[in-house]
Amino acid sequence: MKNFDLVIIGAGPGGYIAAIRAAQLGMSVACIDKFVNQDNKPSLGGTCLNIGCIPSKALLESSELFAKIQHDFIDHGISVSKPTIDLEKMQSRKQKIVNDLTGGVAYLFKKNKVTSIHGHASFVGENDSGIILAVTHHESTEEICGEKVIVATGSMPRALPHLPFDNISVLDNEGALSLTSVPKRLGIIGSGVIGLEMGSVWKRLGSQVTILEAQSSLLASVDKDIAAEALKIYTKDLDLHFEFSVKLGDISVNAKDITIHYHIDDIPKKIVVDKLIVSIGRVPNTHNLHCEKVGIAVDEKGFIAVDSHCQTANPKIWAIGDVVRGPMLAHKAEEEAVAVVEAINGQSTHVNFNTIPWVIYTSPEIAWVGKTEQQLQTEKTLYRVGKFPFAANGRAKGLNETRGFVKILADHHTDEILGMHIIGPFASELITEAVVAMEFKASSEDIARIVHAHPSLSEVIHEAALAVDGRALNM
Ligand code: FAD
Ligand code: NAI
Repeated sequence: MKNFDLVIIGAGPGGYIAAIRAAQLGMSVACIDKFVNQDNKPSLGGTCLNIGCIPSKALLESSELFAKIQHDFIDHGISVSKPTIDLEKMQSRKQKIVNDLTGGVAYLFKKNKVTSIHGHASFVGENDSGIILAVTHHESTEEICGEKVIVATGSMPRALPHLPFDNISVLDNEGALSLTSVPKRLGIIGSGVIGLEMGSVWKRLGSQVTILEAQSSLLASVDKDIAAEALKIYTKDLDLHFEFSVKLGDISVNAKDITIHYHIDDIPKKIVVDKLIVSIGRVPNTHNLHCEKVGIAVDEKGFIAVDSHCQTANPKIWAIGDVVRGPMLAHKAEEEAVAVVEAINGQSTHVNFNTIPWVIYTSPEIAWVGKTEQQLQTEKTLYRVGKFPFAANGRAKGLNETRGFVKILADHHTDEILGMHIIGPFASELITEAVVAMEFKASSEDIARIVHAHPSLSEVIHEAALAVDGRALNM
């Protein structure tokens, strides 16, 4: 049996980053991953690189360019004859990006001397040397031993009861990213992050999109001003059709189409669609891991129970990323990975959950960090608000991207920034200023006094900071 200082289960952003950092620190490392791509080939990088963050952003970009060429170019005085889509090419561009990045992980493993093992890992037990794992690939099983183990097995899409994913009619994220033709009528269940991003892609490429949501409003956990602006833009500009307060009834799938029966306020309704994406959240991958054999607990939702340092009930085992509590985000998994490995190496580490940014890559993008106005009200924290629209910013006008605003929430007494919420162009890039500011416990006055380049979108953040004190200059 081979022995390693550290064995990592899962090669997503949690697992592969942990493996590289551990190798940098001189540990002997094995990383076990079972993912196979559409060609039935092992592919490192987990959900994020293969069927999540990366391919979705590739299709979002392609579809946005298609929308821009049809609707925005004319404002710039540029006319083109009717644009068309070559979906096969769009998909192969996406796949090339995925292959480059997943191949990049394999290269980094080689470079850092990480032993990469393909197969399904499960716990067998413990001996004096450490934790014993069985790795199964096809019919063969080998056992390996890790003095320490990190579980980074990620998550998978939650299916509706009695409606399994077939990725022909009923699609999960993998199916939604791999369509080979644009469905005429696309149904989406769940208006969360995946529903909105995938809805944007296929709407811009020509589908009629209907999104059925159980909650009574859009993005209930997002700051209410941002969610209201987003709903306005998604319905008016993008022409997404939402149904809220939906109670699903029978869903029948046949070769031609899918009929979804549902109720809103006891009124029966139905839609018929050609494809259905089910995006109602994700569940942690802990099935067939046999956690009980090494004394680690799994909660009622399937998450591995960990303390604030990601350590499980077994002191030799840690768990990170989507398989544990906290937001299911790639950058959260990566930061936990580094923190755990450095802690194993004897360093003192910490991940600040209060400054993890969120981004929704619709057009315009939505990004935020810290508290929402609703959370501050519930906590009874006194705060001041500064808001500034992109419509009053020269760079946004030049870009023809004037929708949205920046909203800053600052403590009423200390002026410390408690949250920043952006809906607008390049919000994913702009939000980093807020993350840095909050990490350094900056006040809105600090941002107000920092020089921001002109003309730039970041001036909207500057003006929003000035607006906290009622002294925005360009409005
Ligand atoms: P994963 O990336 O899920 O990796 C886990 C790996 O472990 C997988 O390869 C899995 O096959 C393997 N595995 C599981 N069980 C075993 C086992 N027993 N033995 C061996 N291997 C095993 N997040 C963002 O931050 N930004 C985004 O833009 C974003 N976009 C997304 C878009 C979509 C469509 C989806 C679905 C997700 C998106 N996410 C995004 C979320 C992000 O993908 C996850 O938060 C992230 O991948 C979690 O990383 P992880 O390492 O915990 O798990
Ligand atoms: P989600 O949790 O974001 O949204 C699920 C939505 O489905 C919710 O609005 C919920 O109310 C609704 N819902 C649940 N059950 C329902 C039912 N029976 N009928 C109708 N609606 C129902 O989950 P989603 O979109 O599947 O994404 C999973 C996770 O993946 C995200 O939470 C996020 O962590 C990650 N992700 C991150 C992205 C990013 O960072 N840009 C992009 C995509 C995914």
